[in-house]
Amino acid sequence: MGFDIAIDGPAGAGKSTIAKGIAKRMGFIYVDTGALYRAVGLYMLDKGIPTDDRDKVSAALPEITVDIEYENEEQQVLLLGKNVTPYLRTQEVGEAASVTSAYPEVRDKLLDLQRTLAEKYDVVMDGRDIGTVVLPDADLKIYLTADSRVRAKRRFDELKAKGGDPDFFEVLKEVEERDYRDSHRETAPLKQADDAVLLDSSRMSVEEVLCTIEGLIREKRA
Ligand code: DC
Repeated sequence: MGFDIAIDGPAGAGKSTIAKGIAKRMGFIYVDTGALYRAVGLYMLDKGIPTDDRDKVSAALPEITVDIEYENEEQQVLLLGKNVTPYLRTQEVGEAASVTSAYPEVRDKLLDLQRTLAEKYDVVMDGRDIGTVVLPDADLKIYLTADSRVRAKRRFDELKAKGGDPDFFEVLKEVEERDYRDSHRETAPLKQADDAVLLDSSRMSVEEVLCTIEGLIREKRA
């Protein structure tokens, strides 16, 4: 029997850092589901399809294939067979993903791929609806969150480190808008599963979060 871990939470809570760390320590496969939604967002941007037009976005979906491959244990996302991983982590693509991921047609399209991966491998999967919709029977569910100011500060530092000149309050506004959109959509909104363990990383180091989750895995496996 496999062991699957679901990590959900808002943007900037540190899900991918934590999920990657756990996958490495446990020898599991890390699945970044946000990257799948980002690939769909990227396609719409590239084709000039307005992301706020649900009909046009849905009509374009049959043209798309999204797949995952692993290269040196790093997830690569293939859009129509082309590796688009380097183009997914921009603010613009994140916004497009946040808008288009609200459409049930988009979520349906990506559901099977996520479930198949979890059937095949022991996974640590991060996203917004993994514990609630994608893997309701996951062996361990974590809801990882942090104060929106702390998350905005992390994002602000990231942008600065990349040589940008961000405005903190602008970044905070974007974080809060994304939270609102992700948690108020009708289909599979961001929310804590009833059986998920809540971890607030606002005042925890990465190592503390990793150790806490390792402890929870040991308990579940005992
Ligand atoms: O985690 P991320 O920032 O890469 O996600 C980008 C967007 O994709 C996010 O704003 C909401 C959406 N998303 C989702 O709806 N469901 C998931 N499981 C993962 C991401």
